[in-house]
Amino acid sequence: MERSKGVNIKNLTKIYLSHSKNSEFRAVSDISVDIQAGEFVTLLGPSGCGKTTTLRMIAGFEIPTSGDIYLGGDKINDLTPDKRDTAMVFQSYALFPHLNIYDNIAYGLKLKKMNKETIKEKVSNIIDLVGLKGMENRSPNQLSGGQQQRVALARALVMEPGVLLFDESLSNLDAKLRVYMRTEIRKIQRKTGITAVYVTHDQSEAMSLSDRIIIMKDGIIEQVGSPEEIYGKPKTKFVAEFIGNVNFIKGKIVKLEGDKAIVKVLDNEFKIDYSGEKKESDEVDIVLRPEAIELCKSGILEGVVVSSTFMGSYQDYVVDVNGDLINIEVTNPKEKEQFEEGDKVKLNFNLETLHIV
Ligand SMILES: Nc1ncnc2c1ncn2[C@@H]1O[C@H](COP(=O)(O)OP(=O)(O)OP(=O)(O)O)[C@@H](O)[C@H]1O
Ligand SMILES: [Mg+2]
Repeated sequence: MERSKGVNIKNLTKIYLSHSKNSEFRAVSDISVDIQAGEFVTLLGPSGCGKTTTLRMIAGFEIPTSGDIYLGGDKINDLTPDKRDTAMVFQSYALFPHLNIYDNIAYGLKLKKMNKETIKEKVSNIIDLVGLKGMENRSPNQLSGGQQQRVALARALVMEPGVLLFDESLSNLDAKLRVYMRTEIRKIQRKTGITAVYVTHDQSEAMSLSDRIIIMKDGIIEQVGSPEEIYGKPKTKFVAEFIGNVNFIKGKIVKLEGDKAIVKVLDNEFKIDYSGEKKESDEVDIVLRPEAIELCKSGILEGVVVSSTFMGSYQDYVVDVNGDLINIEVTNPKEKEQFEEGDKVKLNFNLETLHIV
């Protein structure tokens, strides 16, 4: 969409004061991030990490304690929410129960005093886009949860905002519908090219929707990156653990060579990409994803099977490697060699998948 705008957040902080004003809470702490026009970015993190607060500051519902927010290059700190060129899709839909679907969607345009014909054209385009054709005259309580969510989305889209904001917008839907609606949202966002900032604590939602994910923890940004970067090259243990299952193996840096580190793990030495701050002879944690490991009779590390559980699409093994319990997910288990509790096994993995946090 030519109207879509980038969002620049500069040193943004929000401190909430308690009612008695004698204690304060730092919900968002000096965060900076640049979101490109047309990009789909997710704020992901555990409950209370400051996602909603950040989104509400972009929308103008919450006033920053310090820092600046720019939309399309213009500073918007001092604008009221209605002047900001943002639109929010709420978790609760927030539809007007006494208005039909058409009027719910047209509401914002009418407030803008747009002429009737233009409104009609815009609303019917959006109704097509979100797949609500034929439902114009129904009232919200005659729609399913998923359909109501579409109305909420349409109502935001029809305003053609510079950025579309979502706060846990799908969390009221059942699991199947949630997965379906997220692909719909992604399709519509791609089609319109609108900038989207999406808040969620659901990692699979973030992975499937986003061009980039912003991982937050305790009011700060831990990492910003594409889903592939966040999963494959997490910067911290927190990020690695927050996205998917993970094993950490202890190692010790033997030598640093440019952007590689030679790391000793038990009797092995691995050469791993590394550009962090650790020095020679420092201990490090190495990330090894459960699905990146193969179990076989000859391999890199040695262990003993502690448990083996059939999970349907994969076999879940726990293997004791020198006192560390390593989780392994073997896909298509029926086609692979099977091991039982107490079996001695070797672990094999592609050295490229190793990553130091
Ligand atoms: N109005 C407020 N007054 C005081 N503290 C607040 C207020 N709003 C939020 N907080 C606190 O700020 C922190 C961040 O809240 P926020 O709603 O941004 O979290 P969140 O990441 O959206 O969490 P969730 O996933 O649970 O929605 C929390 O510890 C919360 O208790
Ligand atoms: Mg929240």
